[in-house]
Amino acid sequence: MHIGIDQLEFYAPSTYLDLTELADARQVDPNKYLIGIGQSQQAVIPVTQDVVTMAANAASRVINDENRNKIAMVLFGTESGIDHSKSAAMYLKRLLQLPDNIRAIELKQACYGATAGVQFARDYVALHPEQQVLVVGSDIARYGLKTPGEVTQGGGAVAMTISAEPALLNLDDVSTFRSEDIMDFWRPLYRTEALVDGRYSENVYIDFFKAVWANYQSQTNRHIRDFEAFAFHLPFTKMGLKALRAVLPEASEQQQSQLMTNFEASRVYNRLVGNLYTGSLYLSLRSLFDQATLKPGQRIGLFSYGSGAEGEFYSGTISDKFDVEASKAWFDHYFANRTQVDVATYERLFKQQLPNHDVLLDTRQDDARFVLAGIKHDQRQYVDRE
Ligand code: HMG
Repeated sequence: MHIGIDQLEFYAPSTYLDLTELADARQVDPNKYLIGIGQSQQAVIPVTQDVVTMAANAASRVINDENRNKIAMVLFGTESGIDHSKSAAMYLKRLLQLPDNIRAIELKQACYGATAGVQFARDYVALHPEQQVLVVGSDIARYGLKTPGEVTQGGGAVAMTISAEPALLNLDDVSTFRSEDIMDFWRPLYRTEALVDGRYSENVYIDFFKAVWANYQSQTNRHIRDFEAFAFHLPFTKMGLKALRAVLPEASEQQQSQLMTNFEASRVYNRLVGNLYTGSLYLSLRSLFDQATLKPGQRIGLFSYGSGAEGEFYSGTISDKFDVEASKAWFDHYFANRTQVDVATYERLFKQQLPNHDVLLDTRQDDARFVLAGIKHDQRQYVDRE
């Protein structure tokens, strides 16, 4: 029996910032952002969207009347949750009108949370092949105005169903992982922006990738030649390029160029959205599916990294049912219809945080199906406009 990713959809708000404009405002050479960091645009998150609404906007496209009653668990990966106690999955479950006889929980380990969800879901489906698990990764990446991390901000959500005989990716049995208590990036409870030791975080990311890749190779006897492409957690797309370059010398010249071509395909969407933390690896996987030429049976390697730190390498083969066209059309429409905001508007939206008292938000500018309409009695008020 194959188990893996059956559906994979994405949502981010329709407002974005052009990073050439940000470079001008910050008096930086635009090529530092476009080439040195590898980002061209970044999603700007209005106050009417949070991790719950973004997850609902993505997940409503993977839940339908056919699978609603097969969902056994909602696993919600996030590091920008809205409550210290109650899980975002509980709100999501209600917004999606999922039945009550399911488990709904939140998973946290920085950007690794959604991968934990995928792996737990895989194990669950192995025991209950008639059921499915909804895994989401939803985050808002905030470092602060005029910080080195600013150019690597972004946000959005991915939603996946994990099932038997999936339509996208059949997961291989072996995955290798590593965790170590490291302070490369963290966000204390009292802060809305992350703290980061930037260069150090890049080095730890590469060290973890090399360690889990070496471990994977020794456990499977697979070699780089067995892979058609790699998808990486992309906090910014140059990071994935650095990771790929760390293993490229293991490949033949011909394969090196094919891996580079597929890497370019895997970063098309991330370059335009920015970091969405838990969802970044999976947005990159979607970009690879849509922008590369892949065939059933080909093997893809996935590297997940969450600061603090947890890394995992796993792999899968393209499903026989793989059909790219439907999702690509969604992305083409999404990117063609976004609204660019100037730097002043981005800064205003960035500073517009929710107050800690009752408030009614103006949702007229927000074109999403699920929005945050305000706070009443310390409870977030979510609205489904359909
Ligand atoms: P910085 O200090 O502004 O940038 O911070 P820099 O001076 O190091 O330059 C960046 C690159 O641009 C360099 O290339 C420069 O040479 C190049 P590199 O040496 O890296 O290959 N450059 C140029 N290239 C072309 N034309 C030019 C030019 N000028 C310079 N004119 C940093 C960069 C990424 C550190 C910063 O943005 C940051 O702190 N970002 C946030 C942290 C981060 O994303 N870390 C990644 C690994 S940790 C991770 O992935 C987990 C995470 O997602 C969180 C989680 O798990 O929850 C972050």
